[in-house]
Amino acid sequence: MKLKHILDVGQFSRAELEALFTEADSMERLIAHGGSRALGGRVMATLFYEPSTRTRLSFEAAMIRLGGAMLSVENATASSSAVKGETIEDTVRIVQNYADLIVLRHYEAGASHRAAAVATVPIVNAGDGKREHPTQALLDIYTIRQEVGRLDGLTVGIVGDLAHGRAANSLAHCLMRFRDIRLYLIAPPELQFDDDMMAELRTGGLEVAQVTRLEEVAGELDVVYMTRVQRERFEAPSLYERLRGSYGIDPAMLRRLKNTAVILHPLPRLDEIHPEVDNDPRAAYFRQARHGLTIRMALIYHVLHPRDD
Ligand code: CP
Repeated sequence: MKLKHILDVGQFSRAELEALFTEADSMERLIAHGGSRALGGRVMATLFYEPSTRTRLSFEAAMIRLGGAMLSVENATASSSAVKGETIEDTVRIVQNYADLIVLRHYEAGASHRAAAVATVPIVNAGDGKREHPTQALLDIYTIRQEVGRLDGLTVGIVGDLAHGRAANSLAHCLMRFRDIRLYLIAPPELQFDDDMMAELRTGGLEVAQVTRLEEVAGELDVVYMTRVQRERFEAPSLYERLRGSYGIDPAMLRRLKNTAVILHPLPRLDEIHPEVDNDPRAAYFRQARHGLTIRMALIYHVLHPRDD
């Protein structure tokens, strides 16, 4: 079997993204017809060293819907032999004896690359520290395609904790694959992308600007991508307390957005989206979470049945 790790969103060309989205469309139809036995006899291991609801459960549901089985370590920091000091490399060397695919979430940036360096089965990065969350970006872009109907010529605002947000980081990278994208990075200065990231986005062809307040650009946005302030990544609790609640969408902000705007969030949310927003047709974040299932079905199928190209 050809080994195919999924580590960074940048490894996908535009053509590969479009093929994946077509595959995800077909997975939705497959679910409607009761699922598949295509991956009968195959085993996926989910190794999660950080908490998760959506990513782990949607990967596991995806494997079940495709007829496969899984092994799950949901709190590996406390319940795996990591407690005894086992390295991620050694854990992967062991788990690959039991599974055909390993889905890994880890608190350390680059952990998925370390795992892939020793793996004989595919590794899927389900989030590594502040660095990347590639499968989240894939489902985010798929959701934009479903909600807006196009992926070129969009004005996108990514709002919130960009400094610590791996979902924001991966989404910004993935947007480089599309044409005529205007990207507003909307955050307090302490939570903005750093200069290296800004240079990378500009080199990648994005028209990008940093602004501090959503009000400044709300009326221009086709997509508003909200993120939470990531308390767990702050060294100084006082800074977290100062920054939390410094931005958000409430009914008043909704009135500033285009009627056609789409509001996304990787979730979980805290108070950056008021619950009253949920019933607005522009609020797409729960539909977005649903797409996590079909995109991950398409990814698992792709990884375990790689095409020759
Ligand atoms: N969006 C996301 O990664 O959610 P979980 O942390 O619940 O997996």
